[in-house]
Amino acid sequence: MSQARGYTSAAKGLHWISGIIWIVAWIIGFVAVHWRDEMNPTHFLTFLHKAMASTLILLVILRLAWRVTHPAPRMAETMSRSMQQAALVGHWLLYGIALIALPVSGWYWSSVADKPIMVAGLFLLPPLVDADEGMYPTAKAIHTYVGWFCGVLVVGHIAAALKHHFIDRDAVLKRMLPGGSH
Ligand code: HEM
Ligand code: HEM
Repeated sequence: MSQARGYTSAAKGLHWISGIIWIVAWIIGFVAVHWRDEMNPTHFLTFLHKAMASTLILLVILRLAWRVTHPAPRMAETMSRSMQQAALVGHWLLYGIALIALPVSGWYWSSVADKPIMVAGLFLLPPLVDADEGMYPTAKAIHTYVGWFCGVLVVGHIAAALKHHFIDRDAVLKRMLPGGSH
């Protein structure tokens, strides 16, 4: 299983669905805060940001369950040992910080602020902790700083994937694309 040359269709599907939701949610969160008066006067973008981003919590549980039962393919042999290790660390940072810690920090922030989160706009996510006005600034700062750190992490991840494809001309991006080697 671990000898496979590419990801399973389910792993690819989950990667692209959660990846697209992640990128769009990041942009909406950023616009909601920084163009509040112009673009977010009724807080609709904030609602949309939370509705989209909270679906990641469920998708990530599915994704991790699939990942644990279906190991990732071996790193491309064209990569040096240290690059393979760097890519592995990068992937686990994406799982741990971008896909788990960041949504949980948003969930925590909305919980201390006593604000609702409608998952996909459909049902209410129960609060993670009790409302606590005193923790509001800390929760906000955590979500904002972790959000920016992850923005940089994801830009680095996308740049690495594009470098593999267009400069190294290896199969790293192809094996994550629909129909790519498996
Ligand atoms: C349950 C999940 C989440 C909740 C409840 C949540 C909640 C929030 C809230 C309430 C804001 C402030 C919006 C406003 O003031 O109008 C915000 C901002 C933001 N969120 Fe989230 N968020 C969640 C997940 C995420 C995820 C997964 C990402 C990354 C894709 C993200 C990235 C951001 C960014 C970049 C900002 C703007 C930060 C800034 O520049 O000040 N959030 N989030
Ligand atoms: C245009 C956007 C993206 C591109 C082109 C892209 C590309 C790739 C590629 C080619 C791989 C496989 C690397 C390998 O085989 O060694 C990969 C894996 C991965 N990507 Fe992305 N990605 C994108 C967006 C994202 C986003 C937004 C996230 C999460 C926030 C993400 C999280 C991950 C994770 C966690 C893995 C490791 C999968 C595993 O081994 O289980 N990706 N990505």
